Amino acid sequence: MKKTDSCRYFATWDTTSTVRSRPNRYLFTDTEFSETTPERWFPKALIPLANQAGMEILPEAALLRIHIGHLVHFLDYTTELEISYVNRAICCITQGALSQHFSSQERFCALKLYADEGYHALFSRELSDQVTNRFSLPRMRSARLHHLDRSRATQRHKHQELAAFIIAFVSETIITENFHGYHTATYYHRYSTCFKIT
Ligand SMILES: [Fe+2]
Repeated sequence: MKKTDSCRYFATWDTTSTVRSRPNRYLFTDTEFSETTPERWFPKALIPLANQAGMEILPEAALLRIHIGHLVHFLDYTTELEISYVNRAICCITQGALSQHFSSQERFCALKLYADEGYHALFSRELSDQVTNRFSLPRMRSARLHHLDRSRATQRHKHQELAAFIIAFVSETIITENFHGYHTATYYHRYSTCFKIT
């Protein structure tokens, strides 16, 4: 069977993918939980609320809670996105309406990606649960997910898989792009390094 070009990205997957090569769980330590610098929990630039006028009058504890809460919000968003959109899009490649556009080898390689994305969902949820429980934070489903759901639902049936594929592709690209340049956000950055795959 001829090996297609896109499969070259998975040539070392068995030894370099996160799910295969980094079995250690990320468990927060008490020292990490005691971090009081908001920016080290999540970058202010990526928190719309934190950039509103007047936020500077908030007590430090409130500002810290906003940053920690946004980390949870981001992690929960990632978990659901991976499950509901990214891996559904991969199903379109492996056995769905889009599978006819991919070779047998590409459909096989897509299963490796499926495992990667499932692992993203797992460790995002594991981190989120730890932070939520530690700080007794409320959880709220992302408005963006509601918007994506509505956008997909408005597509005609025959286009729904293509819509899911496009949403997944764009979202993954945005997430990866957002990770660049925010290395001062300790937990956000350490989380982002988990995304280094294949
Ligand atoms: Fe992912």
